[in-house]
Amino acid sequence: MKKSDLVTSILKNQSAKAAAPAEAEAYASANIALIKYWGKRDQELNLPNTSSLSISLSVFGTRTRVKHTKGSDKIFLNKKKLAASDGFVLRIRRFLDLFRSKNEYYEINTLNTVPTAAGLASSASGFAALVKALNDFYAWGLGPRELSILARLGSGSACRSIEEGFVLWNCGIRKDGMDSFAEKIDIRWPELAIGVIMLSTEKKKISSREGMQRTVETSVLYHSWQQKVEQDLARLKQALENKDIALLGQTAESNALSMHATALAAWPPVCYWQPKSLEMIQRVWALRHQGLGLYLTMDAGANIKLLFKSGIEKVVKNHFPTVECIYPFK
Ligand code: PMV
Repeated sequence: MKKSDLVTSILKNQSAKAAAPAEAEAYASANIALIKYWGKRDQELNLPNTSSLSISLSVFGTRTRVKHTKGSDKIFLNKKKLAASDGFVLRIRRFLDLFRSKNEYYEINTLNTVPTAAGLASSASGFAALVKALNDFYAWGLGPRELSILARLGSGSACRSIEEGFVLWNCGIRKDGMDSFAEKIDIRWPELAIGVIMLSTEKKKISSREGMQRTVETSVLYHSWQQKVEQDLARLKQALENKDIALLGQTAESNALSMHATALAAWPPVCYWQPKSLEMIQRVWALRHQGLGLYLTMDAGANIKLLFKSGIEKVVKNHFPTVECIYPFK
């Protein structure tokens, strides 16, 4: 099935519920997966092989404004107009093609508080904010489930950025992907802190699309990875219910390291780590050995995200002076 067919089927019963405004703006938080999505069963529709579970990053995200313009699309990123040949522009325009009529052009203003393509899921908040803004711009009146499916067509993990807090993306089994959307988990955990350590703001050399495809096709560990995800999801849900930081931390850290190990076993190897990443990982392990309740996760980039409870924030800041602490529920 093509993306455009899916969009047509989602929008076919959507007559404007209200007068469409001249412009619309929306915000979406970035998210980091505690249980990762790594591998697709459908490249076109971004359908995953396994379910995944994330936490939103509140103030780290994307604000996007949409309005009409004449002649051609104009895309601004952090107030700078981007060249038509820019990779980001091409990606956004291809996505907008799914929604536009003939000779319809957009001016898109995107403000990111997440470094673009540095493994901090800026594409997730970017596509989620764009889909939310389009929903208002065209007064579609779509609910979170449909918005999640539309965001997924831009970037898989974007489907988890429509909602805030803990979010579960059910992988689904349907060919058209209508059962593959993300849903909010109704649990709040105000003490939970995420510490972001930026080690690199450079664009990653292997995109997550390419990295996961290569892993699925060539990594001998991929089958075990899928089994591990199932077990980890069950463990993580238990950790959330009991607000158990040790279980959450162990499960998320082990899941992330397994994802990277599975990718490393691909050929050619897929490695997102930098020497600094390993240095930080070892620092976390040393502190944990001394009894600190500190854990980590990593996505398709060199940066490290720490997981801990608010009580140890001071100690964490002492050991990681550049860390930025985020409380998703405060
Ligand atoms: O949605 P994508 O194509 O940017 O892939 C995201 C992949 C990871 O960030 C590594 C894992 C995840 O679940 O977010």
